[in-house]
Amino acid sequence: MAELEIRNLHVKIEEKQILKGLDLDVEKGRVHALMGPNGSGKSTLANVIMGHPAYEVTEGTITFKGEDITEAAPEDRSQAGLFMAFQYPVAIPGVSVSKYLRMIINAHREARGEDQIKIKDFARTAQEAMELANIPKDFSSRYLNDGFSGGEKKRMELLQLALLRPEIAVLDETDSGLDIDALRTVAEGVNKFAGPDMGVLIITHYQRILSMVKPDQVSIMFEGRIVKDGGPELVGILEEKGYGWIREEVGAAA
Ligand SMILES: Nc1ncnc2c1ncn2[C@@H]1O[C@H](COP(=O)(O)OP(=O)(O)OP(=O)(O)O)[C@@H](O)[C@H]1O
Ligand SMILES: [Mg+2]
Repeated sequence: MAELEIRNLHVKIEEKQILKGLDLDVEKGRVHALMGPNGSGKSTLANVIMGHPAYEVTEGTITFKGEDITEAAPEDRSQAGLFMAFQYPVAIPGVSVSKYLRMIINAHREARGEDQIKIKDFARTAQEAMELANIPKDFSSRYLNDGFSGGEKKRMELLQLALLRPEIAVLDETDSGLDIDALRTVAEGVNKFAGPDMGVLIITHYQRILSMVKPDQVSIMFEGRIVKDGGPELVGILEEKGYGWIREEVGAAA
């Protein structure tokens, strides 16, 4: 059974039906790419997986590690081992990166009934994570996302990945206007952290990221459903032919 199982998911926002019966499995130990034209519902799916309150699930289920989390609170999902990049995209002046990281570690510890992390242990853990995520030392004293470049925000994501070690990470890279260095940062991170203990759902238009990451599986979304599944070869086909042929296939099947 896949760690994350989505079945017949129907989602509405402001009376508009966006997801229309979506099925998707994301497994630990695999890199799964989700592609699809603008407006097909990819970011909606990512938000719903994390429990964003603006979206209404009208039918279907989201199951994580065998438990139905369709209605679970975002922090419970996170504590169970789900992670979404840009979960906290706002800048928080006055909260340094290191203070923020300590807050999220402590929130997770508290949920497990553990004491707050000792300052010394935190310093060591944070330093290890920063080395893993390839982050310069002075980064930790900066204020969260305040004046961060696209690439620095991506590094921040990696740092959270390195610290939290989620079982499934959802990375929505679609709208972020990343330059090539930021793309490389994301790719590096996925390659470093995805492994037997972590699965990644990476949402992207960029063949470029996927040439650096190599997904095990590719799903294509169209008008609120997954309409095609395949291996990495799909990325090249999409790059070459665009989404028109998918539209025709879906039309022919309807
Ligand atoms: N908050 C909202 N209010 C109204 N409509 C919304 C909202 N969020 C998303 N939508 C609509 O839902 C549809 C799917 O949007 P979504 O952002 O999920 O697509 P996407 O596949 O991520 O697109 P892109 O590739 O451009 O990132 C679009 O028609 C969008 O206008
Ligand atoms: Mg999007």
